[in-house]
Amino acid sequence: MARDIKKLVAEMTLEEKCSLLGGGDFWHTKAVERLGIGQYMMSDGPHGLRKQDDKADHLGINESIKAVCFPAACATTSSFDRDLIYHMGDVIGKECQAENLSVVLGPAVCIKRSPLCGRNFEYMSEDPYLAGEMAASYINGVQKHHIGTSIKHYAANNQESARMSVSAEVSERAMREIYLPAFETAVKKAQPKTIMCSYNKINGTYSAENEWLLTKVLRDDWGYEGFVVTDWGAVNDRVKGVIAGLDLEMPGNTAANDAAVAAAVREGRLDEAKVDECVERILKVFFDYDDNREEQVFDRAADHEIAARIEEDCAVLLKNDGLLPLDPSKKYLFVGEYAVKPRYQGGGSSHINSFKVDSAFECSRAAGRNIDYIQGFPMDKDALSEEDLASLLAKASEYDAVLVFAGLPDIIESEGYDRKDMKLPASQNRLIEELLKVQKNVAVVLSNGAPVELPWADEVPAILEMYLGGEGVGQATDRILFGEVNPSGHLAETWPYKLSDNPSYMNFPGNTRRVYYREDVFVGYRYYDTKEMPVRYAFGHGLSYTTFEISNLRCDKECFTDGETLKVCVDVKNTGSRAGKEVVQLYVSDLNGTIERPVKELKGFEKVELQPGETKTVEFEIDARALSYYSEELGDWFAPSGEYALLAGEASDRITAEGRVKFETKKMLPLHIDVDTTIGELLSDPRTAPVIHQMMAGRAHDSGEGGISGNEEEDAAMQNAMMQYMPIKSLVSFGVLPPDQVQGLLDMIRSQV
Ligand code: GLC
Repeated sequence: MARDIKKLVAEMTLEEKCSLLGGGDFWHTKAVERLGIGQYMMSDGPHGLRKQDDKADHLGINESIKAVCFPAACATTSSFDRDLIYHMGDVIGKECQAENLSVVLGPAVCIKRSPLCGRNFEYMSEDPYLAGEMAASYINGVQKHHIGTSIKHYAANNQESARMSVSAEVSERAMREIYLPAFETAVKKAQPKTIMCSYNKINGTYSAENEWLLTKVLRDDWGYEGFVVTDWGAVNDRVKGVIAGLDLEMPGNTAANDAAVAAAVREGRLDEAKVDECVERILKVFFDYDDNREEQVFDRAADHEIAARIEEDCAVLLKNDGLLPLDPSKKYLFVGEYAVKPRYQGGGSSHINSFKVDSAFECSRAAGRNIDYIQGFPMDKDALSEEDLASLLAKASEYDAVLVFAGLPDIIESEGYDRKDMKLPASQNRLIEELLKVQKNVAVVLSNGAPVELPWADEVPAILEMYLGGEGVGQATDRILFGEVNPSGHLAETWPYKLSDNPSYMNFPGNTRRVYYREDVFVGYRYYDTKEMPVRYAFGHGLSYTTFEISNLRCDKECFTDGETLKVCVDVKNTGSRAGKEVVQLYVSDLNGTIERPVKELKGFEKVELQPGETKTVEFEIDARALSYYSEELGDWFAPSGEYALLAGEASDRITAEGRVKFETKKMLPLHIDVDTTIGELLSDPRTAPVIHQMMAGRAHDSGEGGISGNEEEDAAMQNAMMQYMPIKSLVSFGVLPPDQVQGLLDMIRSQV
């Protein structure tokens, strides 16, 4: 039964209202029994329920209930499959209904600025378009069950180092083009019921009290309707937070802040209407949950199988010289403790008390594979004895191939701290390198949440990236290795050869006060491709046991303009001998050189399943926004009139179909007209160009002097080039304009705009 929220708020005392702006304990909101408002439980996610049982402790780290651990976002985003992650959200939404959880705290979409960020396993991508599309699908899946989500961490929380105090110093353009769009897409395509603001500052202001972030961008620009909740413990000044648009402070212990808000209202420093707005937005989410309860059963066994199936479509085949898939009739050796104790999730608030964990070794044995196991190195530390190594090497050649299960121990990557480098434990690299000397058939199976350096990659015939694949990763690994599943994941982040190639390298993680995002919009492939820098594996890379051909890109228009859309079609064919799924990616490129822009940007992707020999046509639809950059001068998105390239392929570095389209816009960049305005700016603006041409023509006639080269055309070209960067004030110095005519020229120019 829908309650009249405004009426309910009108019946509340100021103290009751303010009490609802803060948590009741670590995981619950406060109640107002007098008015029949109960407590509501929120809990982590994003890839399963970390729901503490009733004995929640004040730090929220007591054991949580048994739940199903799905693949982490580093894996699910690699599926490039909106339907798959929607399905995962759908299942998690049902689990929340069964467990009386009103909000699941995810998805996490912070852009992977550096591969070192300790929580990259929990984040989606280096590309905001991919992250936004996948986040919106997850949110729609969960919220189908009237369970709230909490997309996080809003915004620019791209490191764990000093995350509660550091200020991310970022240009507005980089915020708008890189660090905000995933949230924007989620708001516009899924309306997450809550958004979690980040701990950090942005350009000196805490997110929790940043009015530009929480009101101007989120609500005025994007039309956000839900409520903003803090990351746990992120509040700095609660009254400033209410004014900025922060609705709910978590966790509990907020009595002092609740009182501070009430006092600010009483003293006229805070409009009570702002408090009412916060309460209304909070109650709207929780009442929607209340009014739409579902009878759901948390079937852990069934959801475990779903988690395994999901991971099968996330794993990324990085390299395969033909060693995979393995032949079940042959004999194989599994090496590395991850084979029997998989690393399938990350450390910190997303850590799930998993219902059941499959290991590759047990699943392969259960499937009747002819395999043996030798530990070699442990899963939790960097250790390998000479004796163990020697014993392994003595046996390795007895097998048709050796599968090394390598990866990053929990202690290296987790919430709360960043990695120091991109290296695998030295013992793992050593074992692989020594093994290659006695056995050429070596496949490496990786379990890590972020890119690692692979010094042996050129020598190893096959590399399969499982990322942190959830509790069903063992089944998925076995079925992919032995060919029952054809891998179809593609990288959602670039793997550089070495850390120092990464664009953030010189500015990460800053100090405890500031970190400068000096690479600006050139994050990930936007940097490597623009710099033409070779990388180990490119954004979008992913192999299959079959092959595909992407071709024949065509558009439904040769030119389009503001308010119109462009349809782009591409054919994809399975040119191999077995069924498989391909991810067709569409990038756009501004060929007009009007401002520093990445050479390409992802603006579409579709995953298609194809039988051998089958061809399908994939259709994309783009608009002016897809061609635009964010102009700080204009305070809006802007795509200059001119020509754009449309690039389609199976990876950012494997473009196999191209097209061109023209775009005409009526939008104009603001033209600042003063004595510092250059002739080039005035010539490039159709409104002012005639004035300059007239002035130049008059001057050339008056002076009558010869040019430098004596060739009239060449002289004109040289003169124009020199004039490009000449400000109006310099025309006087070079005798082009008498001093007493400068104002007249400025007036004339101003009269044209
Ligand atoms: C943590 C995390 C956040 C999580 C919250 C509750 O500090 O940053 O992602 O949802 O607190 O555990």
